[in-house]
Amino acid sequence: MLLSEVKLGQQDLAPTSAGHGPVQTIAVTSGKGGVGKTNIAVNLALVLAKEGCRTMLLDADYGMANVDVLLGLKSKVNLLDVLSGKHQLEDIIIHGPDDLLIVPASSGIRQLPSFGIQECAGIVRAFSEFDQTIDCLVIDTATGISESVASFCAASNEVLVIVNNEPASVHDSITLIKLLHSEYAIARFHVVANMVLTAREGNELFRKLLTLLADEHNVLVSYAGYVPDDDALRKAVAHHKAVIEAYPRSRSGMALKNLAKRINNWPRPDCPRGHLEFFVERLLQHKKVDMEELS
Ligand SMILES: Nc1ncnc2c1ncn2[C@@H]1O[C@H](COP(=O)(O)OP(=O)(O)OP(=O)(O)O)[C@@H](O)[C@H]1O
Ligand SMILES: [Mg+2]
Repeated sequence: MLLSEVKLGQQDLAPTSAGHGPVQTIAVTSGKGGVGKTNIAVNLALVLAKEGCRTMLLDADYGMANVDVLLGLKSKVNLLDVLSGKHQLEDIIIHGPDDLLIVPASSGIRQLPSFGIQECAGIVRAFSEFDQTIDCLVIDTATGISESVASFCAASNEVLVIVNNEPASVHDSITLIKLLHSEYAIARFHVVANMVLTAREGNELFRKLLTLLADEHNVLVSYAGYVPDDDALRKAVAHHKAVIEAYPRSRSGMALKNLAKRINNWPRPDCPRGHLEFFVERLLQHKKVDMEELS
């Protein structure tokens, strides 16, 4: 069964969080590993939080705990404790800088298999019970094109595909986009060119992707921007810091701020899509209020 086939039932409509407005949900993904997903997800979430957007960052790369490693965090409890019913989502959240809420994946056990469909559905539902106002959820997905990566993308409103200018990254991004469209009915993607030398190289990389996707007539792919290859980012990673914290005026730091500003202007979702998605009951509530105002 696909997550997009998990239909809404009464049990999904958790009443607790319905009083809050719609949440922008953005899955950060890539076909190939090591292209910069975690750095982009963490820095975007931090910039959004600094801009006053109430932001949550979900580390959905369970086996590797990427976000914890990048930010030098340690947590004793994690999403498995939420899935087993031992803890509520709010019990495992780490409060980061600028009130960024981080949902960690760390378990201390490095060899865990990635989440299956049922676990992904359980995680998406756990967010429904979270009873605080949130404006944006950023999801750092695992490496590769797995069921769990696809499920988290399908449960999000927007999908950000990170790509590098190397053949394997371009090839795997195309494969990912085609698969997410054909199997999960995702039709809208945003591309970030990472580790490019110039803005022009970023543009050309995006054009290359568009050419390779020319046959996908029902897929909308737009360019979100680029992040330059930058030693400051590598240095920040070595010190377990996000580059926008360690070197806010670096080339990559500035590019990430611009990217976050653009993303912050994307329209929020305003109606549910009919399958399991993050914070769906807030959308249902929003829709109901709209209908009541019209009548
Ligand atoms: N813009 C950049 N400039 C310089 N180096 C970068 C940049 N982006 C990423 N890197 C380098 O690439 C490494 C991998 O980045 P990151 O961990 O964010 O990738 P990932 O896609 O999340 O990897 P994984 O697939 O393993 O989860 C970083 O540790 C850093 O050294
Ligand atoms: Mg990562």
